[in-house]
Amino acid sequence: MHTVPPGSNSPTAGSTISEIMLRHDTGHKDDNTDTFNDGATETDNRSLMTFCKSIPFTCRDVRTMAHHMDSDSATFSMTSSMENAIFREDAGRRFQATNDDYSLPADELEFARLDYQHFGLKARASPTQLYHDKNYLAPIPEALKDDGTGQRKRGLDIGAGTGIWAIEMAQEFPSVDWTALDLIPVQRDGTPDNLHFMQEDASIGIGFPDDYFDCVHARALIAGMRNWPKFIEEVIRVTRPGGLVVFIEPNLPMGLYKSTAEETRAVTPGAYAFADVMARAFTRRGYDINAASKTILSVLKANDLVDRVEQVEASFPCSPWAVEPNWKKSGIMMKFNAISVPETTKVLIMDAMEMPQYQVEALGKAYVEDIEAGHRLVYPIYHNWAWKKGL
Ligand SMILES: C[S@@+](CC[C@H](N)C(=O)[O-])C[C@H]1O[C@@H](n2cnc3c(N)ncnc32)[C@H](O)[C@@H]1O
Repeated sequence: MHTVPPGSNSPTAGSTISEIMLRHDTGHKDDNTDTFNDGATETDNRSLMTFCKSIPFTCRDVRTMAHHMDSDSATFSMTSSMENAIFREDAGRRFQATNDDYSLPADELEFARLDYQHFGLKARASPTQLYHDKNYLAPIPEALKDDGTGQRKRGLDIGAGTGIWAIEMAQEFPSVDWTALDLIPVQRDGTPDNLHFMQEDASIGIGFPDDYFDCVHARALIAGMRNWPKFIEEVIRVTRPGGLVVFIEPNLPMGLYKSTAEETRAVTPGAYAFADVMARAFTRRGYDINAASKTILSVLKANDLVDRVEQVEASFPCSPWAVEPNWKKSGIMMKFNAISVPETTKVLIMDAMEMPQYQVEALGKAYVEDIEAGHRLVYPIYHNWAWKKGL
C-alpha cells in the first residue's frame, strides 16, 4: 500500500470531467500535411464539448447508489461494511476489493473514461468493415435473430463496467433478455426492462447453466484476467450450441500507426517510454499483453466446441489526428480516454514496478504531451469471435 496522500500531484484527481476536458482539449494543428492527418480543429473541440455534455453521465457513484439500489425489485441499503468489502482507496482513487486480479479504478472518473472509450470504439471504422456507430463487428444480430421457436434469446455482457454497451444492446434488441455482470454493482439510470445487472467474479465462474446464452460478449478485461484459457472455457460452457462468443481487447504497448517500436521510440519518446513501462507493469501483474492478438485466438482455435473463429484488428486513434471521418470522430472521443490512461494505470504501475508516484507521473506527463502534439498514436484493438458447434 502506498504512503501517498489522496489526490496529491495528480493531474486529474479532484477534477470534474468538464474541467479535465477543458484542460486537455485545447486544440492542435499538426504541421504534418499528409491527407490522413490534420489534427483537431477548434470546431472539433467545440463539438467534442457539446457531445460530452450530451452524454448521459448518469452512472451513479456507487457509494450514493448503494443507498437506493434495486436488486430483484427489493430495495436495500448497502452498509459501510458491505461497501468496505467491495471497495478500497489507494492514491486518491477507489478500486474494487472483491478480488486481487482487476486493478483499474472503479470511480466516477474511471466510469467517464470507460464511456468515452465506448463512444470512441463505436465511431471507429476498421480497415475492412465500417464500425461507425455500431456496437459490434462480430455477427451478433445473426446470433440473436428470431429462430421461430417463440423462445426469447439471451445475451450476456461480462465485465460490463458502466453498463453502457449492455444498455444500448438491450435497446437495439428489445426482444432479447440481457444480463450484464461485473465485480462491482454498477447500475445506470434508464436501464431497459430487458436488462438485468448482477455482481459476480467471472474468473471464478459464471453462475448460469450450460448452453444458456445465445451470445456472450466480453470487452476490455485485460487488466483483470490472469487465466484466459479457463475464462474462455467458462464462456463457451454457458453459450448454447449455435451461439456466439465475442472478445474485444487491446494489445499492449500502444504505438505509432503502422510503425515499428523503434519508429515510435524515435518520434514519440514520451509515449514510447510510458507505454513500455505500462506493458511491463501489466506483465508483472500477470496480465497477458498479447491476449487480444494471440492468446484468445489460439485458445478459441484449439477448442473443439467452437468453429468459424475470426479476428478483426480495429485499432483506435489516441487523438483526432486523422481526416477519415470515422477515425476522426473516434479520435475525438478517444482522446479523453487516452489522456486518462496514466491516471488510470498509475497505482498499478507504482505497485508492479515499485516506482515512486512522481516518476510514474513524469512518464505519464510526457506520454500525454505526445498525444496532445497530435502524433498518429493508436491503441491496437482486436475483435475475436467464434460460434459454438452443435446446430
Ligand atoms: C476496463 S472495464 C471495461 C468495461 C466495459 N466492458 C466496457 O468495455 O466499457 C473492465 C470491467 O470489467 C470488470 N471486471 C474485471 N474482472 C472481472 C471479473 N473477473 N468478473 C467480472 N467483472 C470483471 C471490472 O470491474 C470493470 O468494470
